[in-house]
Amino acid sequence: MKLIAPSVLSADFGHLADDLEMINRSEADWLHVDVMDGTFVPNISFGFPLMEPMRKYCTKPLDVHLMIVHPEKYVERFCDAGAWSVGFHLEAVDDPLPILDLIKAKGVRTCLTINPDIDVKRLVPYLDKVDMVLLMSVFAGFGGQKFIPETMDKIRFIKAEIVKRNLPTLIEIDGGVNADNSAELFAAGADVLVAGSAVFEAKDPEEVIRKMKITG
Ligand code: DX5
Ligand code: ZN
Repeated sequence: MKLIAPSVLSADFGHLADDLEMINRSEADWLHVDVMDGTFVPNISFGFPLMEPMRKYCTKPLDVHLMIVHPEKYVERFCDAGAWSVGFHLEAVDDPLPILDLIKAKGVRTCLTINPDIDVKRLVPYLDKVDMVLLMSVFAGFGGQKFIPETMDKIRFIKAEIVKRNLPTLIEIDGGVNADNSAELFAAGADVLVAGSAVFEAKDPEEVIRKMKITG
């Protein structure tokens, strides 16, 4: 699969409806929604109050990426707020399984995420228990960082595991993704590419999204 998920973190919150309309018009597949708590990551983004207008004005599925401690306290509320998928960080929890069950019980798709300093092998036991794994290609917390090249081998490793076991699990990549590296990322086995600054800071965001899909 070759999907593009622009990250609303880089949108203009003063004109959010306009940016969401651009996403609706574009060939983007999902809207990536970055939630940061100032504790798991050294930055605070937004929370539930923005889910409402995003659900109202955005026709694309909301792909929620929780960068928070204690995701077990909040995953159900994000499901109720209209998330299409909910992901949280493996390194933020002791046992992800009961939290995945909370999301599944709401009929929402699940995603497990790891930062670049977490061994990618730690995802392997969960590959058949989630809809998607998200490999961070920068350290979670901020948009506009540079892609970490070591991510490429991690994609190939996790893709090989998924193919070996014939699983439907998707691989999402987040951080420093742009129209120059999208083709390589898709070729390595990525299914979903998140792009924040590359899309929203572009003169013609729709063209960037189109280019990322075509080159993929
Ligand atoms: C970073 C977020 C990303 C971020 C990507 O913590 O998870 O989704 O918005 O931004 P860019 O594409 O600018 O690296
Ligand atoms: Zn993200």
